[in-house]
Amino acid sequence: MSGRTTKPLIDPFGRTVRDLRISVTDRCNFRCTYCMPEEGMQWLDRSELLSFEEIERVARVCVERFDFDGIRLTGGEPTVRAQLPVLVEMLAALRVPATGRAVDLAMTTNGATLGLLAGELRRAGLNRINVSCDSLRPERFAQMARRDQLARVLDGIEAALAAGFSPVKVNVVMMRGVNDDEAVDFATFGRERRVQPRFIEFMPLDADGGWTMDQVVPADETVAAIDAVYPLEPVAHGPEPAARYRYRDGGGEIGVIPSVTRPFCGDCDRVRITAEGKFRTCLFALDEHDLRAVLRNGGSDGDLALAIEAAVGTKWAGHHIGQVSFVRPPRSMSQIGG
Ligand code: 5AD
Ligand code: SF4
Repeated sequence: MSGRTTKPLIDPFGRTVRDLRISVTDRCNFRCTYCMPEEGMQWLDRSELLSFEEIERVARVCVERFDFDGIRLTGGEPTVRAQLPVLVEMLAALRVPATGRAVDLAMTTNGATLGLLAGELRRAGLNRINVSCDSLRPERFAQMARRDQLARVLDGIEAALAAGFSPVKVNVVMMRGVNDDEAVDFATFGRERRVQPRFIEFMPLDADGGWTMDQVVPADETVAAIDAVYPLEPVAHGPEPAARYRYRDGGGEIGVIPSVTRPFCGDCDRVRITAEGKFRTCLFALDEHDLRAVLRNGGSDGDLALAIEAAVGTKWAGHHIGQVSFVRPPRSMSQIGG
């Protein structure tokens, strides 16, 4: 580390940005209906993807110059990128100047390959893991992910637990008339397997463009359904978007992400970089800032820092899902990175 002083990165609405979401690939081995079309996705060419060295440089500038302390790897499906543990090791070596500590390094995955990879990722320095799983019923799972792989995902969750990830969170996108009758089943599963379900409201980021408000299951409804069977109480929490609840009998925790019914934009501390190096200041942003051009045109770390600061200067107050002023971004979730 040089003696350069760091400064926090503050957006036009006074929010400190400190969390970087890195999409490492736009590809995925599933085709979840709320994310991808059945077929016809146009994949990025290998040469378009940021290399591990390029990703590490962007992350290092965010951490060393702006005191970012959280990084999450996403996709597409991050584990389809070859050699992912090598990248994890590179990112785990970063130190936050303000604290001298490593960044909190997390990953969101569909779990299908964790049976093979969980141990290696853990040893490489990954701290936390979220596994997406939207149904515990094999046929319904196959319908939602368009892949008949519930058993592999459940094995992946077990592998994550065995590798020592704690807590393992299970992301469940709730959809009206599809899996909205499974809240209590997921709670039971979470209590038995000691994992934390996190119920996410369906957002208008599906490639098929079929989102409508009436398919959203409000987080409050999910909490009420679980509370009726396993009484809950709220847990005080920091700026994270999940509202957390614990079972009154000490059986663990759940989280809900009310991104549509109660947007958390006011506390948002995130920015994202897509697999091809476009920097985005919101999931729903319509503008992108091309960091790959800075990286590949010989830009210095200082140039990267300036480009990141300029981009954060355009971060808006929040999305307007459900209002007439809302404009869908042209990318779908797998092309942005959750
Ligand atoms: N709405 C809500 N969540 C979504 N995800 C993917 N698409 C959507 C959507 N349209 C979730 C995935 C994963 C996380 C990265 O985002 O299930 O858990
Ligand atoms: Fe793949 Fe995740 Fe999109 Fe499902 S939600 S298709 S697992 S990227």
